Amino acid sequence: MQNSRNFYINGQWVAPKEGRDFDVIDPSNEEVYATISMGGQADTDAAVAAAKAAFPTWRQTSKAERLELMESILDVYMRRSDEMGAAISQEMGAPIDMAKVQQSGTGSSHLNAFIKAFKDFEFEEPFSDDIQDTRIIKEPIGVCALITPWNWPMNQITLKVIPALATGCTMILKPSEQSPMSGILFSEIMHEAGVPAGVYNMVNGDGPGVGSQLSVHPDVDMVSFTGSTRAGRAITIAGAETIKRVSLELGGKGANLIFADADPKAVKQGIIRCFNNTGQSCNAPTRMLVERSRYDEAVEEAIAAANSTTVNAASEEGRHIGPLVSELQFNKVQDLIQKGIDEGARLVAGGVGRPEGLNRGYYVRPTVFADCNNDMQIMREEIFGPVLSMMPFDSEEEAIAIANDTDYGLTNYIQTSDPERARRVSRAVRSGMVDMNGKARTAGSPFGGMKQSGNGREGGPWGLDEFVEIKAVGGWPV
Ligand code: NAI
Ligand code: MG
Repeated sequence: MQNSRNFYINGQWVAPKEGRDFDVIDPSNEEVYATISMGGQADTDAAVAAAKAAFPTWRQTSKAERLELMESILDVYMRRSDEMGAAISQEMGAPIDMAKVQQSGTGSSHLNAFIKAFKDFEFEEPFSDDIQDTRIIKEPIGVCALITPWNWPMNQITLKVIPALATGCTMILKPSEQSPMSGILFSEIMHEAGVPAGVYNMVNGDGPGVGSQLSVHPDVDMVSFTGSTRAGRAITIAGAETIKRVSLELGGKGANLIFADADPKAVKQGIIRCFNNTGQSCNAPTRMLVERSRYDEAVEEAIAAANSTTVNAASEEGRHIGPLVSELQFNKVQDLIQKGIDEGARLVAGGVGRPEGLNRGYYVRPTVFADCNNDMQIMREEIFGPVLSMMPFDSEEEAIAIANDTDYGLTNYIQTSDPERARRVSRAVRSGMVDMNGKARTAGSPFGGMKQSGNGREGGPWGLDEFVEIKAVGGWPV
């Protein structure tokens, strides 16, 4: 890729001021296939300065002008969508068919949903129908640092960049150093779509470098971050000095509550959902809780589903799962599988080591643990690999208690054919999102978590609100 060593600052591709080389590794074969630059303080400063300079003009553009730009971004994105899928597939290991549909597709789906939400978005309103002389005005918060992870790169980039742009903010994107190629391609799309100079900037780098520099920068008004709870905590502390708004989308340990009256396919679907993207999703249903009368059968179904999950290179077509993103993640997942064995969970599928015949690449065996208890590390920690932990429950109250006994609160899943129970349990679980009976939330629904899963809500009008300041004006001439 032509621009892989450069940054996108003030409407141009520029060479780094203090860059050091960083190898981009294809996780399917562990080979270096590209080199990017990791920026330093001077690069961060240049990008922030460009965003700061562009803000006074961009914040005054009309809604119509911004809408037109969003539509133009969508056009270019659609034209380059397959290229995007291929870039993501190679950099983070999502199988090519899945990457083109699901990974790249999240970008266009969020663009479409934001365009729809933005059309109805009101920047100014009277306080109420009968109090017209107090005016409530929504204004862009200012310069935003957008720090994104590698697991669903376009999902997270578009969930941040598009609402920031729409509300009149200017920004610096720092994509994950593990998935930089899709971020570079996205910047090319932004350029081609005609985003004005300085409104959108991109600098590559890592957490200790550009990530931390953005989080403490006095000219950055807000940081929107998706990634580990560890980094979210560090960014919150770093941003506190200058009272930044810090919006966080962190990890999860979703419970999948399968009641005895659930659809017969619930277990199999739960496994597919857990293993999708090789388990590297913050909203994956990784704790499967099954009502005792159905538990033994469920374990058998889970074993069958795990054993029929195939693992292969990302470049291969088909419905397999790919490798994990990096050696670091591979080692982390291996350690946690070993930990599950040591803690006494019953390993019923998969285990440590690579799948047969795959000796190079960060491949993991689709793994299921049965008879877990909620104190085990594999029930508490986000594993971020194709690993499911199962345990039985005896009552609805117990199921809810187990589901809520976690530091996380992102997504929970409920499988039951009893509508009363569906409503009751969905209200009782403490998570920002609930998916019931295999039905997803509609596009543009707010995405985000409770407790240590974060404090942000991305998507739709809620995702636009994240980037605005509220101004109340009294004495408004009517
Ligand atoms: P990470 O949180 O270190 O990386 C995510 C992004 O944050 C990257 O752009 C990285 O450069 C940046 N970053 C890291 N430390 C930072 C700091 N101190 N200040 C500013 N920016 C910083 O995640 P990592 O190490 O790639 O994955 C570790 C674990 O995090 C995974 O196993 C998973 O449990 C969780 N994770 C959760 C994600 C989610 O979607 N919520 C996405 C990626 C990882
Ligand atoms: Mg890589």
